[in-house]
Amino acid sequence: MTKIIAIANQKGGVGKTTTAINLATAMCSIGKKVLIIDLDPQSNATTGLGIASDKIKKNIYNLMVSEKYSSKYIYKTIIPTLDIIPATMDLAGAEVELVNIQDREKRLKKILNQINEYDNIMIDCPPALGLLTINGLVASDSVIIPLQCEFFALEGLSSLMQTIDSIKGSYNEHLEVQGVVLTMYDKRNLLSSLVEKDVREHLGNKVYSTIIPRNVRISEAPSHGKPVLIYDVGCTGSKAYIELAKEVIKQQNGEQI
Ligand SMILES: Nc1ncnc2c1ncn2[C@@H]1O[C@H](COP(=O)(O)OP(=O)(O)OP(=O)(O)O)[C@@H](O)[C@H]1O
Ligand SMILES: [Mg+2]
Repeated sequence: MTKIIAIANQKGGVGKTTTAINLATAMCSIGKKVLIIDLDPQSNATTGLGIASDKIKKNIYNLMVSEKYSSKYIYKTIIPTLDIIPATMDLAGAEVELVNIQDREKRLKKILNQINEYDNIMIDCPPALGLLTINGLVASDSVIIPLQCEFFALEGLSSLMQTIDSIKGSYNEHLEVQGVVLTMYDKRNLLSSLVEKDVREHLGNKVYSTIIPRNVRISEAPSHGKPVLIYDVGCTGSKAYIELAKEVIKQQNGEQI
């Protein structure tokens, strides 16, 4: 059974793409076969995994419009068990073009139903609650929400939760919040620990014990087209994503986080 996880938060720059790439890579290092779906017109997951836009012939936009999946959409990465269906700027048009199409919320779900050779599929959602993110959530078994350790961390979370609830009610009754992961934690900054306390008080056991630290190696890695685990396996960022992957795999095996 393939477990499909959306990485979502409509707030921009909170670490969705970084988490999609590095959690996926860490899960591969623990023996999983993973597919990333880049569902963001910014295509950060695609470039962050070293796939240049001029090399992309088929992308997630073409697939969502045609709904006819074939292995031509799958691109290999430098990690043997990590593949990606890439995005290009074309995807920006999808929000508009899908509006008049029947079952527009289920386009991605119908596609992912045809893919069964992975342990996990991870969907990197864009920073909005529009039709693309809705497609991501409708297609998923669960959602992982990255929260940046900043003052407004919890702001906007209620609209994301409302969106998740309404998708549960209308399209995908099994959708669940798998967990919330705190990102860009700066231990020298008192605010980070205050935000952590606040988030743990509000969201309790939904929050992973692993916290992703602010780490310059994490931010450098995408410019080399590599996950941080390949760029610098010993840095604190890589270690944190491996710990997070262990927690996520434990959950998949039915254990509590
Ligand atoms: N733990 C971290 N330490 C240092 N820099 C980080 C960390 N996590 C993410 N970043 C950097 O912060 C920026 C935003 O991260 P990222 O692109 O993952 O966020 P996002 O939520 O996907 O953004 P968007 O909403 O635009 O899609 C990037 O430049 C990334 O390299
Ligand atoms: Mg992103």
